[in-house]
Amino acid sequence: FIFLLVHCKFILGIEEPSQISYDYALSHIHMVPLLELKEQAVKNLKNYSGVLENRLKYIELGIKQIEHLLERQDSSNTFKLFKLTRHLYFDGEKWLNFLKEKIGRKEMAKAQSLRPKMPTRTDYMEALYAINRLQSTYDLDPAEMSGGLLRGKQYRFKKWSSLECLMVGTIYYLDENFEKAEIWYQLALEKYYQHSIPKQFEVLGIPYRFILILLMKSAKSSGRYDAALEYAKKGASLEFNSNYWKDQMDQVKALIENPKVIEQFRPVKYIFKTACRKEYPHVHLKCRYLKTSAFLKLAPIKMEEVFLDPPISIYHNLINEMEISLLKNLSTPYLKRSQLYSENHNILDDFSNLRTCKSMRMNDSHHSLLEKLNNRITGATGLSVKDSEMLQISNYGIGGHLYEHQDFTTTTKSDFWITGNRLSNVEQGGETVFPNLNLKVSTQKGSLMVWYNLFLNGSTDSRVFHASCPVLMGDKWSKFLG
Ligand SMILES: *[C@@H]1O[C@H](CO)[C@@H](O)[C@H](O)[C@H]1NC(C)=O
Ligand SMILES: *[C@@H]1O[C@H](CO)[C@@H](O)[C@H](O)[C@H]1NC(C)=O
Ligand SMILES: *[C@@H]1O[C@H](CO)[C@@H](O)[C@H](O)[C@H]1NC(C)=O
Ligand SMILES: *[C@@H]1O[C@H](CO)[C@@H](O)[C@H](O)[C@H]1NC(C)=O
Repeated sequence: FIFLLVHCKFILGIEEPSQISYDYALSHIHMVPLLELKEQAVKNLKNYSGVLENRLKYIELGIKQIEHLLERQDSSNTFKLFKLTRHLYFDGEKWLNFLKEKIGRKEMAKAQSLRPKMPTRTDYMEALYAINRLQSTYDLDPAEMSGGLLRGKQYRFKKWSSLECLMVGTIYYLDENFEKAEIWYQLALEKYYQHSIPKQFEVLGIPYRFILILLMKSAKSSGRYDAALEYAKKGASLEFNSNYWKDQMDQVKALIENPKVIEQFRPVKYIFKTACRKEYPHVHLKCRYLKTSAFLKLAPIKMEEVFLDPPISIYHNLINEMEISLLKNLSTPYLKRSQLYSENHNILDDFSNLRTCKSMRMNDSHHSLLEKLNNRITGATGLSVKDSEMLQISNYGIGGHLYEHQDFTTTTKSDFWITGNRLSNVEQGGETVFPNLNLKVSTQKGSLMVWYNLFLNGSTDSRVFHASCPVLMGDKWSKFLG
C-alpha cells in the first residue's frame, strides 16, 4: 500500500492548495479556454527556445574566435601572444559572467503566470473518473478507446500515448480493479516505445520500468501470478543487476506455490450504467401535428408520443438555432458546478459519480426570450409554467451524466417536469433512459420532452425514474424546468 500511495500520488499529481479550480472537466463550453491556454503556453515555450538559441549562437561564435587564435602554433609571434593573453584574461572573465547569467526569466515568469489558469488536480481527477465512467458504462474496449474507436465509430483525434493509458489504468488500480488496471498498463507498455521521443517520458519521471512494476503489481494483486512472473522476468532482463526484480521473482514464485485467496472484484452497481449500456427495442412512434389552439394554427408543432402510459412526449423544433445560440451565450458566464441535494438539503459531495455538468438558473426578467419560450411551451403542451421553478440551463462536460433519480425532493414537488429543451449537439451517448419503462430517448437538438412525475392524487410515479447517460462524444446542453 505504501507503493500504491506513493506511486499513485506521483502519477496523479498533488494539488496546489492555493489554486482556484475552474471546474474545467464539468462543462464542454468552459473547456474552450484551455485550447487558448495551451496555445499561449506553446508560444511562450517557443520564445524560450528562441532565447536559448540566441545564446547558443553567441557561444558558438566565441568558440570560433578562440579556435582561430589557436590555429597556428607560432609561439614566437609576440603580437599573437599578446592577443591570446588579453583574450584569456579579459574575455575569459566576461565569458564566465555571461555563462552565469540566468536567461529566459521573462519566459519563465510567463509560464508561472499561466499556472493559476491551468486545470487543477480536481479537474484532472474528474476527467479521469469521467473516462473511467464512459468505459464502464459502455463497456468500451481499452485498445479501441485509446485509438478513438467508440462503439464502432472511428473518431479523428490524436491517439492516446503511454501516459494517458497509464493514468486511466491508475484509476482502476486505486479502485482495486486490478484486472482492468493490468489491461491499461499493458497498453501503456506497448505504446511506450511507439512514442517518437520515449525520452520525454523519462523527463516526466515515468521510466519504462515504472510501468513494468505497476503491471507486475496488478497481476500479482489479481492472482495472475504466472503473468506477474513474466513481467518480473522482463524487468530482470532489462536490469541485470537489480535486486528488486530478483526479490520480486522470488515472491511471485512463492505465491505460485502457495496462492493467496483473491476476492473477485465486484463493481458497485449503478442502475444508470446497466440502463445506458443495454440495447432497447425499437419504439414505433406516433407523430402528429398539433393545431388545436389559435397559437398552434399559426405555427403547428410536430409532436411525438414516445410513451402512452405514463405519457411521455417530444415536441420538435420548439426553439430555433438563433434562440439556442442566445441561451448559450446568456448562460455561459454563470454556469457553475451542479450540486445535488439530499432530502435534508445537504449537498451530496460525490464530485464525480452522480452528476457531472454545470448549470445555472435563469428567471423571466433575464431576457425577453424567456417569456416567449414560456408562451410557446404553454401553447404546445397546455401546461402553465407560471408556478414553475426557474429555468435551469446545463452544459455537460467530459462524460457528463446524471445518475438515476426522480425529479423532485419531498419539499419541492412539482407535478410535471419538462426537460431537455435540448440544445445539444451530441453524437453518441447523452440519452435519457427510463429503466422502469425499458425506454431510451435520444437527445434531439431544439426539442422538448415532457413527462409527469406525479399522479393526479399527488403521489409520485416511480415509473418515470430516469437517468441521463454519459456523453460519449459531443456537446450536450439541456434546459429544464419543473
Ligand atoms: C513571445 O515573444 C514575442 C516577441 O518578444 C512577444 O510579443 C510575445 O508576447 C511573446 N509570447 C508569449 C506567449 O510570451
Ligand atoms: C453568441 O456568441 C457567439 C460568439 O461570441 C456569436 O457568434 C453569436 O452570434 C452569439 N449569438 C447570439 C444569438 O447572440
Ligand atoms: C431575476 O433575475 C434578475 C436579473 O438577473 C434579478 O435581478 C432578480 O433578482 C431575479 N429574480 C428572482 C425572483 O430571482
Ligand atoms: C394515487 O394514484 C395512483 C394511480 O392511480 C395509485 O396507484 C396510487 O395508489 C394512488 N395513491 C394514493 C395515496 O392514493
